[in-house]
Amino acid sequence: MKPVVLAGGSGSRLWPKSRAALPKQFLSLTSEHSMLQETFLRLEGLDAGDPIVICNEAHRFLVAEQLRQQDIQHGGILLEPVGRNTAPAIALAALHARQQGEDPVLLVLAADHLIQDTKAFHKAIQHAERLAEDGNLVTFGIVPDSPHTGYGYIRRGEQLDQAETGFAVAEFVEKPDMETAKGYVSNGDYLWNSGMFMFKASRYLEELKANAPEILNVCEQAFETESQDLDFVRIDADIFAQCPEDSIDYAVMEKTDAAAVVPLDAGWNDVGSWSSLWETAQRKDAQGNVTVGDVMMHDTHDSYINAEERLIAVVGLDNVVVVETKDAILVADKNKVQDIKHVVNTLKEQH
Ligand code: GDD
Ligand code: MG
Repeated sequence: MKPVVLAGGSGSRLWPKSRAALPKQFLSLTSEHSMLQETFLRLEGLDAGDPIVICNEAHRFLVAEQLRQQDIQHGGILLEPVGRNTAPAIALAALHARQQGEDPVLLVLAADHLIQDTKAFHKAIQHAERLAEDGNLVTFGIVPDSPHTGYGYIRRGEQLDQAETGFAVAEFVEKPDMETAKGYVSNGDYLWNSGMFMFKASRYLEELKANAPEILNVCEQAFETESQDLDFVRIDADIFAQCPEDSIDYAVMEKTDAAAVVPLDAGWNDVGSWSSLWETAQRKDAQGNVTVGDVMMHDTHDSYINAEERLIAVVGLDNVVVVETKDAILVADKNKVQDIKHVVNTLKEQH
């Protein structure tokens, strides 16, 4: 088994901490380690090869340094000259893994998730590995607790093994609208797609060929000139720039007939927003507040306050998020933190 760590996202809903130069996966949000480091560290004890990391070229030194800090072995840092979303990123990793003439099972991981129960996570991986060896494209399914529209939804099909650890995917719907998501959650047969996958490198490339041939074409061409200097693996930038942009979920998982799902109950959270950091925090005070740094509160409840440089004082407010950094301060209703992306989009237009 060969882990592949996807570390090329932008994490814009965690502004102002998450920035273009330092996206979410490189921040220490859930422990003293960065999300990227946590992703590697939780593989310890699993019988797996050295993970391949794939990230934007701009972040290459950040990745190399964060791995070095924890003495983490890796199987190469693949550099994307531009981001084209996860379907091409995984294709490059699959081509890289196949280069040695092998056809390993890839364990594709996001670099920015929280998983609290490592043991349960490893167990699920072992179940999924068997299904992947049989040719399935396996995802890990989470029992949904709300009609979140930022996730993929999976309808469980027939059981694939005696132990009830794997099921065929009857239907995969990426990011449905709110009405549809509500129906799925009340139905009870649906799981969230965790965004982690297991399949043989060759099976992914075959499915890409069948469902998104242009992506495979461009990735193969860009990969022809592949070169390695030190830890970094580079591909042809001009060719890769022609690649259609799409996620694995839309390009492959919604379309393939070979999808399978292994349920995962391991305290998974994709830490997509400030409210999920509040939800998953190990320590809340008696008023339900989570604080980081120098914070004073009076008559304040169920809030998330994060001070980096200065003292933050909050009086008489409930359900707020306050995040202070050197050059920007966020004050938001904790129930509306998904809308931070509008601020980030406006900032992008202005710069
Ligand atoms: N290398 C690379 N290149 N990595 C990328 C790129 C890219 O162009 N784009 C995104 N990533 C990384 C992100 O850093 C993250 O670790 C992972 O790939 C998933 O990308 P997201 O952009 O965070 O996807 P999402 O959260 O909208 O949706 C996915 O995850 C959900 C669960 O969190 C989907 O798989 C959903 O179906 C799923 O429910
Ligand atoms: Mg995500």
